[in-house]
Amino acid sequence: MKNKKELRIGLIGCGFMGRTHSNAYKRVGDFFPALDYLPVLKAVCARNGDKVKSFAEQWGYESFETDWRRLIERKDIDAVDICTPNDSHAEIARAAALAGKMVLCEKPLARTLAESQTMVDAVEKAGVPNMVWYNYRRIPAVTLAKQIVDSGKLGRIFHFRANFLQDWTINANLPQGGEGLWRMDAAVSGSGVLGDLLSHCIDTAMWLNGGIRDVSAMMETFIKERMHQLTGHVEQVSIDDACTFHCHFHNGSLGNFESTRYARGHKALYTFEINGANASLRWDLHDLNRLEFFDNGDESRLKGWRSIHVTDGDHPYMDKWWVPGLGIGYEHSFVHQAADFLESLTTGKPCSPTFSEALETQKVCQAVYDSALTGTWRDTSINQ
Ligand SMILES: NC(=O)c1ccc[n+]([C@@H]2O[C@H](COP(=O)([O-])OP(=O)(O)OC[C@H]3O[C@@H](n4cnc5c(N)ncnc54)[C@H](O)[C@@H]3O)[C@@H](O)[C@H]2O)c1
Repeated sequence: MKNKKELRIGLIGCGFMGRTHSNAYKRVGDFFPALDYLPVLKAVCARNGDKVKSFAEQWGYESFETDWRRLIERKDIDAVDICTPNDSHAEIARAAALAGKMVLCEKPLARTLAESQTMVDAVEKAGVPNMVWYNYRRIPAVTLAKQIVDSGKLGRIFHFRANFLQDWTINANLPQGGEGLWRMDAAVSGSGVLGDLLSHCIDTAMWLNGGIRDVSAMMETFIKERMHQLTGHVEQVSIDDACTFHCHFHNGSLGNFESTRYARGHKALYTFEINGANASLRWDLHDLNRLEFFDNGDESRLKGWRSIHVTDGDHPYMDKWWVPGLGIGYEHSFVHQAADFLESLTTGKPCSPTFSEALETQKVCQAVYDSALTGTWRDTSINQ
């Protein structure tokens, strides 16, 4: 076995994403054996000592901390991985960069464009490798969509549309804010579905179809007041429950985006479709191993949407897993992203999306927010 270099991970936040990232670090060396670097689960941090201790034991971290500043000070940490709610991303990332650590951060980069810009400035000044976990890019069917678009097979692109639909906040008695419900409190999350869900759609869209020029948006908060878990009082709800926008891409195509937590029956329906002059593509998170493709060049009697089962050895990432025909899942997108980050340490090439690339998504989010508030079209070329 090849001699591996260690990448000593300090993970902050041990909730949903803390688990997906820990799983990725544990799996990546086994399934990507050619990598030069191997992650070492050095330390995990969360504020509750009992919880973080049991998380460390369950996932195999060597140690734990209850203050992220302590973790950043440690000499035995190479990379800080931020899996906390959005209000702490900027402060942790800036401190980690200043301490010379590599910084991996969950999406959205931060609550606002202004906060995000400070993070980009910090990692660029420190010259440290950095990456944002927009993991959907690394689902093999989505990566295949990118390869097909880049090959030019679609021809001139006319339309890009995406939806991210959920239904978990319809109940008016659901409280807002606090542990587990920080997504309901804009002081912590920055926004509602815009930063939480549409940021994923915007990242994928710009990766596949290039930059977005301007936007026209609507937002709605259907339930105006809810009990706040932390104060015990009924307070005004500060997040967007639903957000839709349309836009122009720089390539002249039109975009339509919709996200809501009020689409009864949908838990996490992320879909996108691209229509070009010669061909179209569509993808659905609920059937993530498939990519649908329509080619207008097919013989006319055989023309129709084909459903590609993206599980063959020549499909992106799939040679690392089982045998052709056997699918993989959500968690594998994080393993792939971890593998690409480790590979980037060998090649010296930045691993996409970097903080600077994720800032472009923040610019679109900011323009969407401003457009919804003012009822006007907004340009995305906002400078901070
Ligand atoms: N890439 C994706 O698909 C995806 C999916 C879900 C969440 N996210 C993002 O990941 C981040 C975390 O979301 P989550 O769903 O894992 O949240 P979560 O509520 O499940 O977990 C958050 C964790 O952070 C800890 N924490 C909070 N403040 C802290 C602090 N100051 N110091 C140390 N620990 C702290 C909490 O105790 C908890 O363990 C968010 O930015 C979210 O937008 C991304």
